[in-house]
Amino acid sequence: MTDTRIYVAGHRGMVGSAIVRVLQRQGHSRLITRSHSELDLTDQAAVRHFFAAERPAQVYLAAARVGGIHANNTYPAEFIYQNLMIEANIIHQAWLAGVRRLLFLGSSCIYPKHAAQPMSEEALLTGTLEPTNEAYAIAKIAGIKLCESYNRQYGTDYRSVMPTNLYGPGDHYDLQNSHVIPAMIRKLHLAKLATGHDWAAIEQDEARHGPIPADLRHHLYATCGSDTEACLPLWGTGTPMREFLYVDDMAEASVHVMSLDKSAYDAHTRPMLSHINVGSGEDLSIRQLAETVAKVVGYAGRVEFDSSQPDGTPRKLLDVSRLHGLGCRAQVGLEEGLRRAYADFLQR
Ligand SMILES: NC(=O)c1ccc[n+]([C@@H]2O[C@H](COP(=O)([O-])OP(=O)(O)OC[C@H]3O[C@@H](n4cnc5c(N)ncnc54)[C@H](OP(=O)(O)O)[C@@H]3O)[C@@H](O)[C@H]2O)c1
Repeated sequence: MTDTRIYVAGHRGMVGSAIVRVLQRQGHSRLITRSHSELDLTDQAAVRHFFAAERPAQVYLAAARVGGIHANNTYPAEFIYQNLMIEANIIHQAWLAGVRRLLFLGSSCIYPKHAAQPMSEEALLTGTLEPTNEAYAIAKIAGIKLCESYNRQYGTDYRSVMPTNLYGPGDHYDLQNSHVIPAMIRKLHLAKLATGHDWAAIEQDEARHGPIPADLRHHLYATCGSDTEACLPLWGTGTPMREFLYVDDMAEASVHVMSLDKSAYDAHTRPMLSHINVGSGEDLSIRQLAETVAKVVGYAGRVEFDSSQPDGTPRKLLDVSRLHGLGCRAQVGLEEGLRRAYADFLQR
């Protein structure tokens, strides 16, 4: 029904904005949104007033404190506190306001560090988490358990999806906080500018997307001032295998999972194992990723991996058979997705 009142929490974020695009394309005309400055979701009283006044029928919970390894490792208290508060406030107030259906967005980092690959939904709570993002992962596990507990005690229909690494329009390119793909797009773009001796463009990039770390700046400066072949250093050995999903595919999957009849959703899940993995089902090495990003960005120099820096888990791939069983598959290939992401990066 396209006149359902749907609240998309986090509608200005990368995923929330993609969910809004899908819902609008489907003709939904009664979308409810609030920016962070209009409604701080960690504020319990404000969230209570919002739900009591707006009374949505459905909720997409795509608001969260999000960041890459560095941010997770540096601000664990902020990650666990803000994410727990956002989830608890929204899920509890949604129930009080009679919200029938809700979709919680978690993350693939809920799975143990040494989970068997590909990681199936059953791997949840079977081992120790990756320490660098444990605080964030615990908050995401709590989100799944909130949904399951409200379903069990109050008969609600609150669902969860666990996305793999996402990228695309609306991503964040600040090198202190960003994820693998946006960081790689920006670094290779900067390396291309340095190869073209375009220091003015590098300074423009810095003004637009945030500070360039001193070691990278030094490297770019040296490349700018010389005619030797450019060589961009990246962290690690380049051998870890990772999975990536274009954000529009994530949004399609979210709306698909939310639109399923309760019986169809329940048939593919269990009351206390109710989450669904969302990924492309394919992985590639960080080195292959760097080569593909270099091709898309148009950087012709070399990329060198600094093996003195940590690699992280050797492989992270989601088992997406539940999602496929529900009739949903990723549509956008990596190179095409990267082209769209890079076009968005250049436009901003
Ligand atoms: N990006 C990925 O690779 C990835 C991977 C797996 C899972 N996920 C999950 O997908 C969801 C969406 O992620 P995303 O990449 O779209 O993140 P994002 O771009 O950072 O968007 C998150 C949104 O939440 C809002 N928000 C944060 N704290 C808030 C608060 N206290 N009150 C109100 N709004 C608040 C942010 O607003 P401000 O910017 O104004 O603070 C932002 O609009 C998250 O649950 C995330 O864990 C993302």
